[in-house]
Amino acid sequence: MEQVTATANANIAIIKYWGKRDTKLNLPAVGSISLTLGALKTKTTIEPNSKNKDEFYLNNENNISDEKKVFSFIKIFREMSGNSVPLMIHSDNNFPTGAGLASSASGYAALAVAANEFYRTGLSRKELSVIARQGSGSAARSIFGGIVEMLAGIIPDGSDAYAEQLYDEQYWDLRVLIVVTEEAQKDVKSRPGMEISRETSPYYRAWVENQSVDLAQMKSALKNKDFQKLGELAEHSCMKMHAVMLSSIPPLIYWNPVTLELIQAVIQLRKNNIQCYYTIDAGPQVKIITLPEYESEIREILNNIPGIKRIIGSKLGEGASVIE
Ligand code: PMV
Repeated sequence: MEQVTATANANIAIIKYWGKRDTKLNLPAVGSISLTLGALKTKTTIEPNSKNKDEFYLNNENNISDEKKVFSFIKIFREMSGNSVPLMIHSDNNFPTGAGLASSASGYAALAVAANEFYRTGLSRKELSVIARQGSGSAARSIFGGIVEMLAGIIPDGSDAYAEQLYDEQYWDLRVLIVVTEEAQKDVKSRPGMEISRETSPYYRAWVENQSVDLAQMKSALKNKDFQKLGELAEHSCMKMHAVMLSSIPPLIYWNPVTLELIQAVIQLRKNNIQCYYTIDAGPQVKIITLPEYESEIREILNNIPGIKRIIGSKLGEGASVIE
């Protein structure tokens, strides 16, 4: 058995997903649309383990807490291939892990693609997306590059819950500034957080019911390359998701004071005719979506905001792939 390495990019949703229709199968309650981020990468290597046991290293550290989940994911490929050789898996992120930068998205997408090559299972991208989803909902989207839609599906076994590419990474030169306000891991991970919201937020049902309208409007904005519409819809979807989070019991507050300051800064930038829009996932980082001509000016203004740890600029990136 050979060593196999694969890479995948993280993504950010411009129409968000929050909540499951089936927790066991990890099926999303709503569809979503995302941008694949070329600058946020996971690289994952799978090889037979000479120590004759399964081990998982994340960013060069033996990661016991995620090991069980990683190997229950690998079990899918072991069962398909009939190959149960003990593995050493190394996964490295070039960005902060577990702080709302979708490290699980790029992580499980890279793992699915690497495992497909290692076990020679020959699965299609759609099939890999169905499997990646079982690791993390947003991982299904990171199988593809560019602009991606995740379908919630309705079939109980989840076979219709997969992602597909809407446009490739060349379609539109969108830029995303990932503004890191906190490098530490978040308190409540998205999986338990979503359950708390589903069970307790009085707004959860409205959130699910309205999603199809947002998805349709975003698809039309993308088709027309209407940047203002894209941005307004992305902010609205983000704020609706955070309203569901905030109205959960206990409330899920993923922001810190700098997060809010950045929201206000983006609104102010627009008043000065700099086209940019914010979006925020289950963490305190702010992603600013913009166009190439505004990028350096936005960076300059952000440099005056204390509390920002770093800014990572990204173009749209490619889908997950094996590295030869
Ligand atoms: O990939 P998951 O299942 O941990 O969900 C992540 C959900 C959000 O990032 C908050 C929103 C989204 O659609 O990516």
